[in-house]
Amino acid sequence: MPEAIIIDTDPGQDDAVALLLAFASPGEIDLKAITTVAGNVPVAQTTTNALRIRDLGQRGDIPVYRGAEGPLVFPLETAEFVCGPDGLSGADLPAPASEAAPGHAVQAIIDLCRAAPEDGVTLCPLGPLTNLALAFRLAPDILPKVRRIVLMGGAIGLGNITPAAEFNVHVDPHAAAIVFGCGRPIVMFGLGVTLQAIASHDQIARIGACGNAAGKAVSGMLTRPRPGGLGSDGHPMHDPCVIAFLLWPELFEGRDCFVAVETGDGPLRGRTTIDWNGRLKRAPNAHVVSAVKAHELFERMIERLATLP
Ligand code: BDR
Ligand code: CA
Repeated sequence: MPEAIIIDTDPGQDDAVALLLAFASPGEIDLKAITTVAGNVPVAQTTTNALRIRDLGQRGDIPVYRGAEGPLVFPLETAEFVCGPDGLSGADLPAPASEAAPGHAVQAIIDLCRAAPEDGVTLCPLGPLTNLALAFRLAPDILPKVRRIVLMGGAIGLGNITPAAEFNVHVDPHAAAIVFGCGRPIVMFGLGVTLQAIASHDQIARIGACGNAAGKAVSGMLTRPRPGGLGSDGHPMHDPCVIAFLLWPELFEGRDCFVAVETGDGPLRGRTTIDWNGRLKRAPNAHVVSAVKAHELFERMIERLATLP
């Protein structure tokens, strides 16, 4: 039976590719809803972008709910310097044909979880963890419904938005601390693994040559100049790793670890301290993924994306 999931997202080019990969995988993934959050760009724009990607995938059957306007405590910081003024530069997509569903994303997460059986929903956050933290605080009764949380965020080594922190956790560290402390199984895709997920020039060309609108948009996003590329050569597919893990877990390796999140407003803000060697003698709260077979990942992604309209 396909895995019921909710994608919580701040599109963003790599979020867009993750959404398309999920759309292309109905045999394995039952995408119940897309919920949006402020992150790469403000939430009005991430919502517009989720709707544009939904149109691209011709998946008007999947509701999009607009979520939190900003982090729990800190003012919102966005990343237009990396993803362009509208968050999806290179995709060349029209304005959305339809609107978001009525109601708040946090309420939608709560309602969908409440309607599910125990262990019935997998949450896939691809941006700051604000919506999830709010849902868990408002309705802790949903926690037993959450089968697992497969998330993109954090870093075992250097950060990308600061020396210490990865963008999603940096933007809302308080929300990340709530999620890492929630007691449900977590699979963490931090920069240690996602910076390995970079498609070759040949693979990007093949995505563009798929002959469908999705392939054209993806290749446009992956070949655009990235002035704020934060030290990586090529466009790392951070967020698609989350969806790829649901589809092909055998491509990834990791370890169960205790992960702590720094919530102070100093230079360590948003740092994820990962106790890889178990020095702290704390019970693991996440499976931290550290390696991906990147070539094989993109071969499989190309095949999937080619099935889209
Ligand atoms: C994360 O930050 C965002 O800019 C990307 O979409 C990804 O989720 C990488 O640090
Ligand atoms: Ca993202």
